[in-house]
Amino acid sequence: MQALVLAGGEGTRLRPLTYTTPKPVLPLAGRPFLSFMLDWAREHGVDEVILSCGFMSDDVRRVLGDIYHGMRLRYVVEDEPLGTAGPVRLAYDQGLLEERLLVLNGDVLTDVDLTEELAQHERTGARVTLALYAVEDTSSYGVVPTDADGRVEAFLEKSPDPPTNRINAGAYVVEGSVVGERIPAGRAVSFEREVFPALVGEGLYGFPAAGYWIDIGTPERYLEATWDLLAGHPRSSLPPRDETGSLVSEGCLVSGAHVGPQTVLGRNCSVGTDARVERSVLHDRVIVGADAAVVEAVLAERVRVGERARVEPAAVVGAGAVIGEGAVVGEGARLEPGVRVESGATVEPGARIKAAEGVR
Ligand code: GDD
Ligand code: MG
Repeated sequence: MQALVLAGGEGTRLRPLTYTTPKPVLPLAGRPFLSFMLDWAREHGVDEVILSCGFMSDDVRRVLGDIYHGMRLRYVVEDEPLGTAGPVRLAYDQGLLEERLLVLNGDVLTDVDLTEELAQHERTGARVTLALYAVEDTSSYGVVPTDADGRVEAFLEKSPDPPTNRINAGAYVVEGSVVGERIPAGRAVSFEREVFPALVGEGLYGFPAAGYWIDIGTPERYLEATWDLLAGHPRSSLPPRDETGSLVSEGCLVSGAHVGPQTVLGRNCSVGTDARVERSVLHDRVIVGADAAVVEAVLAERVRVGERARVEPAAVVGAGAVIGEGAVVGEGARLEPGVRVESGATVEPGARIKAAEGVR
């Protein structure tokens, strides 16, 4: 079985993290995000994956390589962003697609049963089958009502007025013929706004998916996915967590510090005496000084937090930023890579600080 993974978006909602690392390989619980998706696809019989990249494609390739646990990885790189369907047409035009394939959004952490979805696709004779998942808040997703037999009745992307809470989970079974006939070549094309709405009544089906599902594309959901993975959902091959439910990677120095609960430290981090790091994610080589506090925040690689400084919940700090001694980064603030916050300074809650600005 072949899968094409859409991994070329800019990940704008995950800035500043995605300024320096593309979303598909952003570390999640200490591993490149896509490795979880690849494990999932492999469990359902996928043996070849086309990674459709655009934005920062070299980094994706450098991290994942050409073979992953026996699966062949191929890369198709766009010069210009082609949207969600355009990349599939590009792969088709390059002669890479099989007669039937899975198309997967490259930012979902899930254990949805693709084998069942394929079986339903076969049974109904569908041209395209969409995995649908029930969520509480549908506003950032495609809403997809179906009839009792699973036929899709409408595809409503980011609808203000949703007729159901079943959303497009970003996992499609697609007949290769649909790609040639329904996706125009040579320009950006959206599955959600163009291809699926036009396929309603013409072999477009929904598959009611159950299990775990989350789109990691915002800082809030990235943290939520981290906590869930640490707690064992979805099941994964992560190393065992410590007694606080945290994952501390190799090369970290944490003696005398309070790390956890539910925290991930990347490689070679150091946390000083009596510093607290709780429910947070630190990427590789982050340094937190003595008596500092980092709570429910995400610190990208090489960030330095000075002694007695505080980083408050939902703050996201870009790579290499420096937070001075005793400084405070307020709730929900976003600091671009390389920002310097002077000692004792305060970044207001919700502030957006550009690299050139700095904070005094
Ligand atoms: N190659 C390529 N080129 N990939 C792209 C491009 C592009 O131009 N634009 C977006 N992608 C990839 C993204 O990297 C992501 O993996 C996937 O396509 C979906 O894009 P998002 O930007 O994350 O879309 P979304 O989350 O707002 O909405 C989509 O996903 C929801 C489920 O998570 C839609 O498919 C919704 O209908 C769906 O409910
Ligand atoms: Mg998304």
